[in-house]
Parts: sequence; C-alpha cells; structure tokens
Amino acid sequence: MDASVSYVFENQSRFIEELIEFCKIPSISAKSEHRKDCRRAAQFVLDQLTGMGLEASLEETPGNPIILAKYTRGDDAPTLLIYGHYDVQPEEPLDLWHSSPFEPVVREGDLIARGASDDKGQIFAHIKAVETLLKTAGEIPVNIVFLIEGEEETASANLEEFIAANRERLEADVAVISDSSQYGPGMPAICYGLRGICGEEIRVEGAKQDLHSGSYGGAVPNPCNILCEIVAQLKDAKGRIAIPGFYDDVLPLEKWEREAFASLPWDDEKYRADLGLQALCGEEEYSTIERKWGRPTLDVNGVFGGYMGEGSKTIIPAWAGAKITMRLVPNQKPKTISRLFREYVAQLAPDAVKLTFLAAHGGGPVLVPRDARFMNEAVQALRFGFGRDPVFIREGGSIPIVSTMNEQLGVNTLLLGFGLPDDNAHGPNEKFNLKDFERGILTSMKLLQICGQ
Ligand code: BES
Ligand code: ZN
Repeated sequence: MDASVSYVFENQSRFIEELIEFCKIPSISAKSEHRKDCRRAAQFVLDQLTGMGLEASLEETPGNPIILAKYTRGDDAPTLLIYGHYDVQPEEPLDLWHSSPFEPVVREGDLIARGASDDKGQIFAHIKAVETLLKTAGEIPVNIVFLIEGEEETASANLEEFIAANRERLEADVAVISDSSQYGPGMPAICYGLRGICGEEIRVEGAKQDLHSGSYGGAVPNPCNILCEIVAQLKDAKGRIAIPGFYDDVLPLEKWEREAFASLPWDDEKYRADLGLQALCGEEEYSTIERKWGRPTLDVNGVFGGYMGEGSKTIIPAWAGAKITMRLVPNQKPKTISRLFREYVAQLAPDAVKLTFLAAHGGGPVLVPRDARFMNEAVQALRFGFGRDPVFIREGGSIPIVSTMNEQLGVNTLLLGFGLPDDNAHGPNEKFNLKDFERGILTSMKLLQICGQ
C-alpha cells in the first residue's frame, strides 16, 4: 500500500489537471443545447478508463451515453459496482459566480467549478484510485464495474431501462457511490439513507392568447391566479402536505434513530445565520435534521407565466406553470405519490381552465441496512483515507438509481461522500476541496484492497 500512497501524492497535480479538464466540459443534462457536451464528457470518461487498461464501452441510450467499464480478475473475488455521473446541473445564476462555472480555478485549496463536487470530482477519485492500484500493485483483489451516466441530474430515466436490459453485465456484490458529502469538515460519513423524489410540472391554460386585463378582466379566468390557488392548497397553514393519502406509507422515525440524529453536533442558530435566513421552519414535532433526512416534503421549484419583464404590462396571461418536487421517505413510492398528486390537483382546478400534467420523474427512497455487506470495510477505508472514524448519517437529497439498483440488481449501496455539505452543489461557486479529493482516492484504494481480502 505504501507505494500506492506515494503514487497518489506524486501524481496529485496531474490528477488535478485532468479533473480540471473534466470540469471544463459543460455537460448540463437539463439543457438540450448541451447534448454534444454531455457526449464529450462521456468520451472523456471513456478515454480515462480505457487509458488505464480497462475494458470500457460507450453505451448509447435515447439520451446521453452511459459509460460501462470492467476490471475482471477472473476468479471468485467479489465485485464492486462503482456508480457516478458526469452530468451537472445548470450553472445559473451566472452573476453570483466569482469565476466562470466552466473555467475551473483553484482557490484556497478548493477547486471551483460546476460539477467539481457533484459529481465529477467524486467519481474521479475512484477512477484515480483504480489507476493508482493498477500502476503500482499491477492488480486489484476485487472485480470492478464502473457505471457512469449522464442523466442523473434529470432523474436517470434511460439508466433505469439500461439496468433492466443489462442485469448480467452489472452483476455485483455491492454498489459504491460517492455523490453525497461528509457530515462536516473532518467528519467523514457513511450515508445509509436517501430521500426519494417525485417531480411534477403542471400547466394551466386559459384563453388562446394574452388578453387586455381591463377589457377582459373579471369576465375570463386568469391562469396565473388559478395556478397560485392550486399551489396554495398543496400545503396547509401548518406546512402539512394536503394531498390525501400522501403520508400513508411514511415509515415513522424510530426512537434509536432520533437519538442517533440528536447525538450529532448541530447548531440551528448557525445554520440559520449561514443561510442568511430570518428563521427556520418545518414540521413542529421534528428537529432540523429529522425534517431534512427523515420527513417528506413538497416544494415549488419555480412558478412562471404572464409578464415577467421590466415595468408593467396589463394582461391576463394565456397560461401559467409550476415545477414541483416532493422528497419521499421510506416506504413512499414515486408512482403512487405522482398519482395522488395528480388526482388532487385535477380536483382543485376549475373547469374554466385546461390543466395539463407534463412528464413526471422520480426515484425511490433508500435505506441501507447497517449490517449490509462491506459496511465494516467502508468504515475502515474512510478511517484510512480521512484519519477519522465515519459517522452514520442520512441525507435529504436523492440519487434516483440507487433504489433501482437495489430492486433490479439486488445490491446494497455504500454511500461514501467525499464532498462537504457547503460545497454549493447546484448553486453558484460550487467547490470541491482538493485535500478531500486526495482523501477520497486513498479511501477508494483502501476499500478496493480490503474488500478482496
Ligand atoms: N449528489 C446529489 C444527491 C445528493 C444531494 C446526495 C445531497 C446527498 C445530499 C445528486 O447529484 C442530485 O442532486 N440528485 C438530484 C436528483 C433529481 C434531479 C432527480 C436531486 O437530489 O435533486
Ligand atoms: Zn446533483
């Protein structure tokens, strides 16, 4: 292991240069104008993996390509499936970035770029760990399958089909994913729970075109008003989601878990102040951590329609829309929640307007049993890489494919986040600490070694 560790230190600046090249590619999966960039990012990953001698392929999908690569020992060693994503979230709002999102810079030990932490830097740590072991030890004691996709940030619809059609190529004993974060600086974590997600978009249409609000106002329906009325009825005054049946399948937090959450260092006042908020809010009976990790939510991501330009424009807009996501906890199912949402909203909309539901997306919630295979190895690996024992956490975010991998491939997932909670994932000035990048490489190397012993 010593020679491998030396290799990591000696090659760290090259690793960073390569990561910078990766982060320069604006692989934004949400925007069709970036289709080619997503393909370039896929090609970058493919070149990395073939370059280190793995058998790798670019798998076409109706959307962005998937990269599959294998390191096969040919004996009965266990197989680790390492999953990550090369796509990133849109970069807006551009004016809040201190440097250009796709021109990475290193500042105070952080690499700053869209995707640096979520997820290019984190998946790159695993890639460099494998390169290091192959270059130094010449072999790795486990079989490895890399599965790196380009549509995670848009809910992995094509990957789901790919998995269903390629089960035998993806057979593994455990999945390893680094697409979450440590609990805090110097507090590595194993994440054993993720929230699921159900995303919806609704559109309310009135007249065939915008109308003069003086000439027509009062005599015709206003889609913007009606949309707001619908949205206002999704939650009650106490913040409880009003969709009938929404909470039916919610698994209540158990006493041990509430105690475990409460034992983690946490400061509501600091959290509030750091976010520039006047006050926190949420379900009364629950702590902030419980609200984020263990309770479902409904949030409007955006409402649009009508005149949004400078000055006033006296119209009754022809249409209005809203994007809404619900975060789900075990045992809620995205499909059921989508159905309940649509039934409720349909019943709220007056006959005077046309209501349309645009394509929904979803991913199931996840709970990894604490005694899952290789959990102890993951603890040891993090201890090696980060010099501390990890804490066990859940997260509020979603990685839609994790529940699918569990259901379709029968694998549990080790969620080993190398990022930090304040990496600004999805926000301006996303960053990834380069020491954490190095610690991530060491962690991955150790894991690959000890899972094969
Ligand atoms: N890396 C995140 C998931 C995540 C976020 C894990 C926070 C732990 C803490 C992932 O890339 C992501 O953002 N997923 C999306 C999925 C959605 C677009 C379907 C999410 O959670 O919003
Ligand atoms: Zn993300």
